[in-house]
Amino acid sequence: MRVLIIGSGGREHALAWKIKQSPKVEHIYVAPGSDGLRELAEPVAVDGNSMEALADWAEQQRIDLTIVGPEMYLALGITDLFAKRGLPVFGPSKGAAQLEASKVRAKEVMAKYQIPTAGFQVFTDPQAALSYVRSQTGPLVVKADGLAAGKGVTVADNPAEAEKAIKDLMVEKIYGDAGKQVVIEETLYGEEVSLLAVTDGTTILPLLPAQDHKRAFAGDQGPNTGGMGAYAPASLLTPELLTEVRQTILEPTIEGMAKEGHPYSGLLYVGLMITDDGPKVVEFNVRFGDPEAQVILPLLENDLLDICLAVIERRLDQVELKWKEASAACVVLASAGYPGSYEVGQRITGLSEAAKIQDLLVFHAGTKKEKDCWQTAGGRVLNLVGIGRDLPQALAKAYQGAEIIDFPGCQYRKDIGWRELNRQ
Ligand code: AMP
Ligand code: GLY
Repeated sequence: MRVLIIGSGGREHALAWKIKQSPKVEHIYVAPGSDGLRELAEPVAVDGNSMEALADWAEQQRIDLTIVGPEMYLALGITDLFAKRGLPVFGPSKGAAQLEASKVRAKEVMAKYQIPTAGFQVFTDPQAALSYVRSQTGPLVVKADGLAAGKGVTVADNPAEAEKAIKDLMVEKIYGDAGKQVVIEETLYGEEVSLLAVTDGTTILPLLPAQDHKRAFAGDQGPNTGGMGAYAPASLLTPELLTEVRQTILEPTIEGMAKEGHPYSGLLYVGLMITDDGPKVVEFNVRFGDPEAQVILPLLENDLLDICLAVIERRLDQVELKWKEASAACVVLASAGYPGSYEVGQRITGLSEAAKIQDLLVFHAGTKKEKDCWQTAGGRVLNLVGIGRDLPQALAKAYQGAEIIDFPGCQYRKDIGWRELNRQ
């Protein structure tokens, strides 16, 4: 089979690595791809941003399966376009992708189907939003309705911060139309966990729970980033809590989307807060998490191609997920200054030595190759994923890699998995 993966980061590298293990896969293409993915997948020489051009190319190449990494393509309707042309694609339709593309829509669905989440109000008028904030005393969370590259959320400790967030989004329009509407919600307290599930709209199969580390610095301090590390499985989501999440969140969401006329198919990522009142939804994403995919996929025993095809052909009830009795930990090597401004083009050393370490996977997130030398090309540069019989073993492997690989200004968190280690 011929598989196309859309995207270019560490998540797509992990997807390509996993798909490559399928005995049924003869060739993998990636659009737009990157130098780091080249040994697994062939970059597609069409304008990666033009979905029509990609669909034309996929038709000509008789692509048997397309897996979409980033949410933007799903929000723009790549699934609808490919499906119309008879091209099998793993990912929700444009209408179903609204669960991530519009926070207002996601909140409306949760309210309508009584899915536990933070209490909220929606505003389209900045003055009304500002008066609401001034009438409140407690901490609030201000969210841009639309996609804002993961930067549209402000967890405001005081009303002044919330006011600034509203002005930035609605008056200064720093994220353009994404801030036309805002959601203002109560702050939830507890520990966060990511639960990803595959679904064909009827059967829902949760993957192993994972925990992301969004803050830049140790102890979950500093600014939010795209993710500085992750591990799986996360024991925070006990079997009892997982049953509760299935009944109160996963099933009503999938059934609700069908009733809304947008049956959900593909991967649903639920960002959960485990509060004293039980699990509540912080956010929905409509694609694999990054860096969660990098720790979940290496633990999956099943052929990922089989799962994707079962979802598309609506026979996921025939699939049983099997997991390795192991843990995986991901440490992200980032450029100095990230998530603020950073330099690129720094020479990376140690990659070939690290490649010899057993149970260490190196996924490229932002690199490029210049005259046989690897260089940094992004904020998040490399994802080092250690596999071990337990979390300490997995972390030891990832950090072994972090000691060998280096580039000027390389920074990484040294406390990945600290919450889980404290639980053990
Ligand atoms: P989102 O883009 O919706 O995932 O939000 C980014 C991050 O903001 C989440 O991962 C949480 O850490 C935090 N967050 C969002 N909503 C809330 C909330 N209602 N209460 C507390 N933290 C939140
Ligand atoms: N790890 C967070 C995300 O993928 O959105």
